[in-house]
Amino acid sequence: MNINFKKILIPIYLILLSYNVLAEIPGVIPVDNKLYAEECGSCHFAYQPGLMPARSWQKIMKTLDDHFGENAELETEEQQVLMDYLIYNSAESSIYRHSVNIERSTAWNQTPLRIANISYIRFQHDDFMEDMLKYNPQIKSRSYCNDCHTKAKDGIYADGIDIPGYGKWDMHGCM
Ligand code: HEC
Ligand code: HEC
Repeated sequence: MNINFKKILIPIYLILLSYNVLAEIPGVIPVDNKLYAEECGSCHFAYQPGLMPARSWQKIMKTLDDHFGENAELETEEQQVLMDYLIYNSAESSIYRHSVNIERSTAWNQTPLRIANISYIRFQHDDFMEDMLKYNPQIKSRSYCNDCHTKAKDGIYADGIDIPGYGKWDMHGCM
């Protein structure tokens, strides 16, 4: 028997999509390092390593004494452990959906220091972000992903969007 997998898989994919099942699958590997969650999650939510390429994490970790206007310096040993964790789990070493898209949308000679500035991420937000942040004291900046993405900690960005001051965002089963 000759089975055409494409013909079977596409309808299955579309059914899952319309019931928003795929939206609840993490798009990036959740943080599973306690030290990282503590040290890098105290001022803002602990960004998943899969949200930036390794070279970006390297640059961030080497300039912690001047970290977006704050001093986030660590002991040398901790810094090394966290750097290894970030590099090992960076966007280019992950097959998760958002990581793959982030890797694809970053030119090899670019080293973004902000996830929010990566073109795949900008593409998702630029239409509305500025208007939403204007006069909205409930969201600190576009860097505070989890202010809107209530499931961000689980690596889920396509579901559970609830924007302070605006309310729940309906993804219309769209990925
Ligand atoms: C002392 C507070 C503090 C600590 C600790 C800290 N950060 Fe930050 N971080 C900030 C601030 C402030 C910003 C800028 C937020 C803004 O622009 O609104 C920032 C921004 C970032 C951004 C850019 C986010 C974006 O896309 O705009 C990354 C990535 C980041 N931090 C990674 C880390 C990592 C990794 C660690 C742990 C080694 C860490 N941070 C620890 C204060 C901190
Ligand atoms: C002001 C609220 C807000 C903030 C802050 C925010 N987002 Fe979003 N994000 C949204 C909304 C709304 C959408 C859905 C846009 C759409 O329907 O096209 C979205 C979509 C996304 C998507 C695409 C999900 C998918 O597969 O369809 C990703 C990935 C994402 N955001 C990541 C992030 C990251 C990472 C940060 C922090 C650096 C962040 N967001 C900050 C509101 C926000």
